[in-house]
Amino acid sequence: MCGIVGYAGRRKAAPLIVDGLRRLEYRGYDSFGVATVGPHVEVYKRCGRIPASLPESRAMKGSLGIGHTRWATHGAPSDTNAHPHTDCTGRIAVVHNGIIENYASLRKRLGRKGHTFRSETDTEVIAHLIEEEYDGDLLGAVEGAVKSLEGSYAILAVAEGDRRIVAARCASPLVLGLGDGETLAASDLTPLLEYTERVIFAEDGDIIAITPQGAEIRNNGEAVERPVELVNWCADDVKKGGFEHFMLKEIYEQPRVFYETARTADPAPLLDLLRETPALTIVACGTSYHAGLIGMYLLEEFAEIPVRVELASEFRYAVPPVRNPVLAITQSGETADTLWALRAAKARNCPTVALTNVMGSTVTRLADAAIFTRAGPEVGVAATKSFIAQLAVFLALADRLGQGRLAASLGNAHLAIGDLLREDVGEAVALLRGARSIFYVGRGPFYPVALEGALKMKEISYIHAEGYAAGELKHGPFALLTPETPVVALCFPGPAYRVMISNIKEMKARGAPVLGIGVPGDRELGEVVDLFLPVPGDDPVVQVLTSSVLVQLLAYHTAKSLETDIDRPRNLAKSVTVE
Ligand code: AGP
Repeated sequence: MCGIVGYAGRRKAAPLIVDGLRRLEYRGYDSFGVATVGPHVEVYKRCGRIPASLPESRAMKGSLGIGHTRWATHGAPSDTNAHPHTDCTGRIAVVHNGIIENYASLRKRLGRKGHTFRSETDTEVIAHLIEEEYDGDLLGAVEGAVKSLEGSYAILAVAEGDRRIVAARCASPLVLGLGDGETLAASDLTPLLEYTERVIFAEDGDIIAITPQGAEIRNNGEAVERPVELVNWCADDVKKGGFEHFMLKEIYEQPRVFYETARTADPAPLLDLLRETPALTIVACGTSYHAGLIGMYLLEEFAEIPVRVELASEFRYAVPPVRNPVLAITQSGETADTLWALRAAKARNCPTVALTNVMGSTVTRLADAAIFTRAGPEVGVAATKSFIAQLAVFLALADRLGQGRLAASLGNAHLAIGDLLREDVGEAVALLRGARSIFYVGRGPFYPVALEGALKMKEISYIHAEGYAAGELKHGPFALLTPETPVVALCFPGPAYRVMISNIKEMKARGAPVLGIGVPGDRELGEVVDLFLPVPGDDPVVQVLTSSVLVQLLAYHTAKSLETDIDRPRNLAKSVTVE
C-alpha cells in the first residue's frame, strides 16, 4: 500500500510531486523519492518520512516527473530500496504501487541477460523489463514489459528524452487529474484536488500516455475512452483546518457526516436485493468489520433480516455455501482481503454490493453495485468518521426495511454525537494511559463497540487492548485482571443491564479498575465503577453511536498524552492493499 504521484505540466514538477506525496503518506511512509525529466533523468530518494522542507526537490529540473511514498513489502526501508527505481542506464525511472508476484523469476531471467540490480525490491524488475523492451518508444516498452508481470501494479514510468509519463494499471488504484495545461496521476484523489475536479479512473489493463495536454489510454492495444468524472471533494477536505491531527478533525466532523450520510446516501442497491432475498452476508476487515457487526444487530432487530458477518481474510479461504447478497464494507475501497472475499462471492454467483467512501475505488468496479458514504476523505489511519458514516447507512437501510422504526434515531443522532464531543475524558486518560493492557467489554450491539474501542486504542496509543463480549471475560481472561488492567465496560439499560452490573462487580473483585460508560444519571452504575462516563442518547441505537465516538476520544487523548504518531501510527497504513 504505497502512494504514487505523477505530474506533467508547465511548472517545476518536483516540488508539486512532493506536496502530492505528503497527501499520500497515510498510505505508507517509510521512505520516499522523486524522479524528474530535464536534460536527464534526475532521482532523489531517501529512507524516512518527507521532511517539512525539501530544498533538494526545488533544485530538480524538469516539468515532468513521478514520485513515491513507500510502505515496505519487499526489502527493508532504506535509501536504496526507496522508489523510484531505474534501469541499468539510469535513463528510465519507475514508481510502483502493488506487488509483483513473479519478481524473483524475472530477476533471475534479467540477471542472466546482464542486468544489474541495486535494490531488494520487486519493483526494480519493472525498470529493467522496460529497458529490455525500450527502442525509443516508452509507451510501447511499458506495454511490452507489463505482459511479463504477474500480480498487482499501478506504475508510472519516465524516460530521458520522452515528454510523457507512461502509466499502467492492474488491480492497484490509479486516478488521473485533468488540469489546465497540466495533468496529474495518483493512487487516489487527494493529491489532485488542488489542481482539478476533473478526473479519470483508470481500469485494469490500461496503458496511459500522460502529457500536459491530457491522457491517451490504450487497453489490449486498442485506444479506449474513459469517462471524465467530477469529484465532489475539495482541497480543504484534506487539510487539517486548525486541528492538531487529522484524526481529531475527523472525529469532530462526525455530526455532519452522520447527518449528511443518513440523508443522502442511497441504499437502494441493497434494499432491492434484500426485499427479494431477505438474507445478507457481510465481508470486511478491521473497523469496517465492526461496522458490519453493528449493522447485523440493526438489520436483525429492526428489519428481521438474518445477517452473517465474516472477516474478509477468513471468508476468502473458507467460502461458506452462500447464495444470498454479499455486502463488502471498505471505506478505502482498496483493502486486498475484502476485494478477494468479494471475488470469492462473485465466483459463487452471489449478488454483490460495496459500501465504500471512495468513488472510483477498486471495490466499486468489482461489485455489482455500490453505496457511497458521505464521510469525505479520511486521512487519519484510524477510521472514525468513515465508521460513523457506515453506521448511518445501516440505520437508513434498517429503517427503510423495518417500516420506519429508526426515524427518530436517524433524525437526531447527529445532535447527540455533537453533545458527546463536549465530554471531558481527562480523568479517563489518567486511568488508561499507564495500563499494561486494557479490556473493553459490552453486550449485544455494544460488543462490537467494545471491539472498536480496543482497536482504536491499540492502533494509535500502542497499549495492548482487547474487546470482549462481557459474558466471555470470566471464561479465561479473568486470569489477567490486575490493578494494571483497567476495564472499559459499556453498560446500558436493557435486558443485559443487570448481568452487566454483576460482571462489573466480579471484575472489581479481582482488582481491575473499571471505567463505566452508560446513560446520564445511572446512579447504580456510577456507584460500582471507579470512573463513570455518561453518554447522550435516548435509545440503544443512538447510545451505540455516541459510545462509539467516546471510545474514539479515549484512544485519541490517551495517544496524545503518550505522544505517539496519531495520524500515521507505526507499522500501519490507511489502505491495506496487500494480503
Ligand atoms: C481502522 O482504524 C484501521 N485503520 C483498519 O482496521 C481498517 O479499518 C481496515 O484496514 C479496513 O480498511 P477499509 O475499511 O478501508 O477496508
